Amino acid sequence: MSMGVQVWLMLVVLVLGTTCEAQLSSTFYDNTCPTALSTIRTIIRKAVSKERRMAASLIRLHFHDCFVHGCDASILLDNSSDFKSEKTAGPNVNSVRGFNVIDQAKTEVEKKCPGVVSCADILAIAARDASFSVGGPSWTVKLGRRDSVSAYKDIANSDLPSFRDNLQVLISRFDTKGLSPRDMVALSGSHTLGQAQCFTFRDRIYNNNSNNIDVGFATKRQGTCPLASSPSNDEKLAPLDLVTPNSFDNNYFKNLIQKKGLLPSDQVLYNGGSTDNVVLEYSKNPTTFKSDFASAMIKMGDIEPLLGSAGIVRKICSAIN
Ligand code: HEM
Ligand SMILES: *[C@@H]1O[C@H](CO)[C@@H](O)[C@H](O)[C@H]1NC(C)=O
Ligand SMILES: *[C@@H]1O[C@H](CO)[C@@H](O)[C@H](O)[C@H]1NC(C)=O
Repeated sequence: MSMGVQVWLMLVVLVLGTTCEAQLSSTFYDNTCPTALSTIRTIIRKAVSKERRMAASLIRLHFHDCFVHGCDASILLDNSSDFKSEKTAGPNVNSVRGFNVIDQAKTEVEKKCPGVVSCADILAIAARDASFSVGGPSWTVKLGRRDSVSAYKDIANSDLPSFRDNLQVLISRFDTKGLSPRDMVALSGSHTLGQAQCFTFRDRIYNNNSNNIDVGFATKRQGTCPLASSPSNDEKLAPLDLVTPNSFDNNYFKNLIQKKGLLPSDQVLYNGGSTDNVVLEYSKNPTTFKSDFASAMIKMGDIEPLLGSAGIVRKICSAIN
């Protein structure tokens, strides 16, 4: 073999080697931490049976992680001298929750296999276990994400969707992250769970000229969300799913068809635009919704992971080692 061919072959092997290694895989911890998945599942189940809403909060935490510099657990970092925590960004402040549960899972996993399982993977597993624990689908979680060494508050402010966004803006925000309009509608279906604060839906329930809200529903929500803005009024909670906020089902989509979506960004998915047909389909077919939700969660978990030797495995999720 000539020298030239040898060098060329070595390069091919190198390139192939790196591409094969640097991939998420469901068996990533099978040898290095075989008890990781069951340990995390136990913690998530306990947390959800103590408070059903925690399932919602954990799913949202994974979403808000993945949309900001990829699924790298950057959302879990507290303020430091080097960066500002994403926890203080607009879409997160006084809103995202579930950090204690992730910390607990991390502590238990660290006891068994110190320094092996990333916080980013724990978030992905927790979201899956949370879904299943309230009647949602399960799926095989791909693993091997590593943790960031910084937080990205500015990206959290610019890239996370707002409840005020119109349909085109929402579609383009998800498109930027590699998610289709159909993925977006399926993922928004996680608003079948959890709660929202008054300031996020006040405009919608008091907008008397609007013809895309059911009047009875608006009146009902006005009962617990006063028109006057004040710190205590602004944080009053209402369920995102009017009917069954503690179980994962397709009532969220049925609500939208009756103009009973809570957030402006919910109702905009069914308001004469291009996503109406997907909402209609999910409202009629819960099985399709659940299987599309699972696929979309896997896709979301694929957003820009740190792989191979990029990033670190944090020992504590809230700080850099
Ligand atoms: C389409 C764009 C989206 C917008 C504008 C949006 C906005 C919001 C807002 C404003 C809240 C209430 C927060 C509060 O009042 O404190 C919320 C809650 C929630 N969001 Fe979204 N969201 C979107 C998509 C998603 C996606 C893709 C997921 C998950 C895959 C998700 C999961 C949740 C969950 C589970 C809750 C309830 C959290 C809890 O009760 O702790 N959302 N969302
Ligand atoms: C983190 O820093 C921000 C300023 O960027 C501040 O508003 C926030 O209160 C701090 N949070 C904590 C928990 O110290
Ligand atoms: C809508 O009507 C209510 C009375 O039902 C009134 O108090 C409120 O100011 C109106 N809101 C707007 C935004 O006009």
